[in-house]
Amino acid sequence: MTGSLFDLSGRTALVTGGASGIGREIVQTLAAHNATVVSCDLTVLDEGWLPAARSHSIWGLHCDVADPDQVTRLADRIPSQLRNIDILVNCAGVGGNNVPFGKLSLADWDRVMNVNLRGVFLVTREFHQGMIDRRWGRIINISSQLAYKGGPELAHYCASKAGVVGFTRALSLESAPHNVLVNTIAPGPVETDLLFNHSQDWLDRKKSELPVGRFGTAPEIAATALLLASDAGSFYSGQTLSPNGGDIPL
Ligand SMILES: NC(=O)c1ccc[n+]([C@@H]2O[C@H](COP(=O)([O-])OP(=O)(O)OC[C@H]3O[C@@H](n4cnc5c(N)ncnc54)[C@H](O)[C@@H]3O)[C@@H](O)[C@H]2O)c1
Repeated sequence: MTGSLFDLSGRTALVTGGASGIGREIVQTLAAHNATVVSCDLTVLDEGWLPAARSHSIWGLHCDVADPDQVTRLADRIPSQLRNIDILVNCAGVGGNNVPFGKLSLADWDRVMNVNLRGVFLVTREFHQGMIDRRWGRIINISSQLAYKGGPELAHYCASKAGVVGFTRALSLESAPHNVLVNTIAPGPVETDLLFNHSQDWLDRKKSELPVGRFGTAPEIAATALLLASDAGSFYSGQTLSPNGGDIPL
């Protein structure tokens, strides 16, 4: 396998949730492999070229992926030369606050489902047809191993992430004949703000479940996204890859 298999020259990527954690690392990794990257997030205040970009290859836009109007406007606000999105990484997500099921409110449920599942649908809907028309596309949806493993007090989060897996599998069957490959990454616990929102007890318990004895890092997940985005990943369709430190087999 040569380095060129991972080269993304000429490709344009959109990464949702690209302002922090795993998404930010995916933005940097795709750009480092010569993609032009549009990153959207709730927290992008100054629109335009992101200051972190050494070359003018990373563009940042504000968008709430759960809001259909904002997602439609996002497509219009992407600079015209970048509108043909080749690679979409649906990474924006919110963690579930730990809530015993008996106390799980509709508001908790909707907050998590709206970003983690509805957001994936809305953004994908906006960019999928263009990939089909151009007969080349990669869609990478960030789920979680909790979709498979489950987690006490996290029914809302686990349901949203399991929904992403089902969405991916269904869409991959329609898309692969058009050379649009749709896959999921289901990471185990990764050192980001989302993980560290949990209590120390919860974190200690999680770490003790991991055969490698440590949490993952964002670059370890971004490497999997690069695989799926590049020619190196050209035979993956409808799959779930789970960088998870040996926790559970899917
Ligand atoms: N960190 C982990 O342990 C872990 C494990 C498995 C899966 N994941 C998933 O990875 C993805 C990235 O999470 P992370 O750990 O990097 O967390 P993070 O909190 O660092 O990053 C999430 C990003 O999504 C953005 N976001 C949230 N709601 C949004 C919205 N409505 N519209 C646009 N952007 C929005 C946030 O502003 C933030 O920048 C999430 O989908 C998460 O569920 C994380």
